[in-house]
Amino acid sequence: APLVPLVVAIDGPSGSGKSSTSRGVAARLGLRYLDTGAMYRGMTWWMLENGVDVSDPSAVAARAREARIESGTDPLAPTITVDGVDVAEAIRGEAVTGAVSPVSAVPEVRAVLLDLQRSIIAADGGIVVEGRDIGSVVAPDAPVKVYLTADPEARALRRAAEEGGSDVAATQQSLLARDKIDSGRTVSPLTMAEGAVHLDTTPYSLDEVIGLVVDLVEAVEASA
Ligand code: DC
Repeated sequence: APLVPLVVAIDGPSGSGKSSTSRGVAARLGLRYLDTGAMYRGMTWWMLENGVDVSDPSAVAARAREARIESGTDPLAPTITVDGVDVAEAIRGEAVTGAVSPVSAVPEVRAVLLDLQRSIIAADGGIVVEGRDIGSVVAPDAPVKVYLTADPEARALRRAAEEGGSDVAATQQSLLARDKIDSGRTVSPLTMAEGAVHLDTTPYSLDEVIGLVVDLVEAVEASA
């Protein structure tokens, strides 16, 4: 019998292939898709847009409830708006990327987005959710949890290509700097959740990784 509700938690560091994998798995299985990193990026965009000093955790905390963040869950056309503005492109820019780790380390930010993420997950239909703390904090009861990693060189190459040919060495440095903050913060650090399957994607193509995760979901569903 199918698991109701089916939640597939996909965590891992930046550039491990989480987004492409999560979207691909959701599309193949007819599930919804939620990119929680985009929500942290949307929150960061709002802070910058509203002149909040993102290096001051108490200033960020004081305003965290004001941003209206909405995420569309179609894996073929994911959307993100903040106060009604489509920020899909802006949240990938350097300003947001440079400020998102400190903003996402603020407990009030995490509390606001956690509520939002749980209400989206609880809505109708199974869902693939990607982030850093999905299997550990957001959806600890998810029947399928995957922890994706890849060698730093492979991650930097992918991310630089996504960014349209950024410098690979600089991209690698920025990835490693974010990993350090994301893994070292007090609240919900990046960590492999209890019960997660570790998948090192370095030797595989995207299609292969999607296939491995789809097989895993189908195996868990068959045994349920
Ligand atoms: O996945 P991404 O690179 O778009 O995520 C951007 C940042 O958001 C990442 O550096 C850490 C933070 N993040 C988080 O703290 N918790 C999540 N569940 C997802 C992302």
